[in-house]
Amino acid sequence: MTDSKTNNRVKIFDTTLRDGQQCPGAGMSFERNLEYARLACELRVDVLEAGFPSASQLDFEIVYTIAKEITHASYKPVIAALCQMREQQVIRTIESLAPLTSLKLARLHVYLPVDPQLMPASLGELANNKSQLIADLHKLVKLAVDAGCEVEFSPEGYSRMHENFDFTTDLIRAAVEAGATIINCPDTIGGACEIEGSEYFVENMKKHAQIIKKEFPKHEITWSVHCHNDFGLAVQNTINAVFNGPARQIEGCINGVGERAGNAALEQCIMLIKQFGSQANTKEPFYTTIATEKLQAISDFVNKYMLPRQPHGPVTCDNAAKHSSGGHTNAILKNPLAYQPFDPKDVGKEVTFLFGPMSGSNHAKSIIESFDYLCTEDEKAKIAQYIKDYYSQRRKGITDKELLHAYFEYRKPIKIEGIDYEQKNNQGKITLHGQFFENHGTIEQDFFEPNSGLTAVKNMLEKKLGDLQILHQENRSEIVNAYPSNSVRMIIIDNDKRQFEGTGEDEDITIASIYALIDAANHAYIERHFSAHQLNKI
Ligand code: KIV
Ligand code: ZN
Repeated sequence: MTDSKTNNRVKIFDTTLRDGQQCPGAGMSFERNLEYARLACELRVDVLEAGFPSASQLDFEIVYTIAKEITHASYKPVIAALCQMREQQVIRTIESLAPLTSLKLARLHVYLPVDPQLMPASLGELANNKSQLIADLHKLVKLAVDAGCEVEFSPEGYSRMHENFDFTTDLIRAAVEAGATIINCPDTIGGACEIEGSEYFVENMKKHAQIIKKEFPKHEITWSVHCHNDFGLAVQNTINAVFNGPARQIEGCINGVGERAGNAALEQCIMLIKQFGSQANTKEPFYTTIATEKLQAISDFVNKYMLPRQPHGPVTCDNAAKHSSGGHTNAILKNPLAYQPFDPKDVGKEVTFLFGPMSGSNHAKSIIESFDYLCTEDEKAKIAQYIKDYYSQRRKGITDKELLHAYFEYRKPIKIEGIDYEQKNNQGKITLHGQFFENHGTIEQDFFEPNSGLTAVKNMLEKKLGDLQILHQENRSEIVNAYPSNSVRMIIIDNDKRQFEGTGEDEDITIASIYALIDAANHAYIERHFSAHQLNKI
């Protein structure tokens, strides 16, 4: 019900479970329907349309069980259930809402087509008997009202009613006279557009609201809007019906799921009202009482269990608060609203950054520092360039972990380009090619015991890094394309008793373990010299 004090409150009617699940591929199990209803309560929707109970036994049980759960929920929305204008369906729908009638939270939502194209296709011969349709509507609305339900009436195809304006007035009149308190005006086919001028459905809503107000001055009627997205205008049309029309209830689905191109995306409508409600040409701002910070969670649920959400959409989509390009991330790191129309926290979302080819050095620095490693102002450009070159083929960006991996590659003091290893009788020689701390070239080390190439390298490393102890080594050998392949995972302990892991691969098991040892030693060195956490302890 609307009263004059709350006249600018816009009620949110969530039909994700009903219109949303009518969308091919979006249906959910019984249990998931209940889970969704709980999330909708956390979001504090005003009305939750729980389904179409006369469609099947399972649909009935979904609506009935949700209605029953609501009786002991801490937040209690109105529960709506849809039916056609048929007596058996109306009775079944009243039964499904029975747990809530005494609490006055049961809403029967009945619809009847008024679109001249839709009427014969949907009603057959009955389409020609308009006075019968009006009388039936009056009778069935009264039946539901007398059973303790509030009643919402939807003239289906309202935005295309054309010559049926007066017939639609008669239907609305009959519904209101019989006790309906909510009149919902759907753009069922999603074809409405402001360019239609006086034919635009919002103009007709204004006319109907005036007629009904004049004829039923004592009735508090809530005007509602319900738009489909066939031209991508569902949200715009919905908002127009509020800001330029009489609608104080908006219907839609989370993530805009729904028949064909979908319904109006509720999260977009809610955030638009929050952002622009005070700019309306009204005395008081428009507002909803939605817990907007819960939008992300419910949107994620729909994405997971109903239909996948596209990445680059508004409000709750993955990229809505994700930034990659250098200029944007730079500005956002200084002021989070520099490139966001509202604070993503308002919808339960965090700003995130994805490092990619267009990203800059401040971005790299911030990720590296978020992992607690050093990246000074002087070296940030060089490090960022190294990371980009390291992943030069990764045009779609890299994860923060991958970025850290490249940072380690940049920092590591030993970069091996090849290992030669000879052993005869009890002695041998190991030669490392590449970068070994400040020297680039080759380093050789002789050894005089069998199988002690690994020990020889360990001795070389200890001269630079202090004592290292091999705590654990795991070898895995397999044949790949007729060649042996060995992989080694090793854990070492340094002077400070900290453990580091390294991995290595080669045809030769000794060389694979040398690679693993060097990898672990590099980690130990980076930790000691470039971990902010470690340096703070010194
Ligand atoms: O789109 C539509 O017209 C509907 C009605 C049943 C409200 O979903
Ligand atoms: Zn619909």
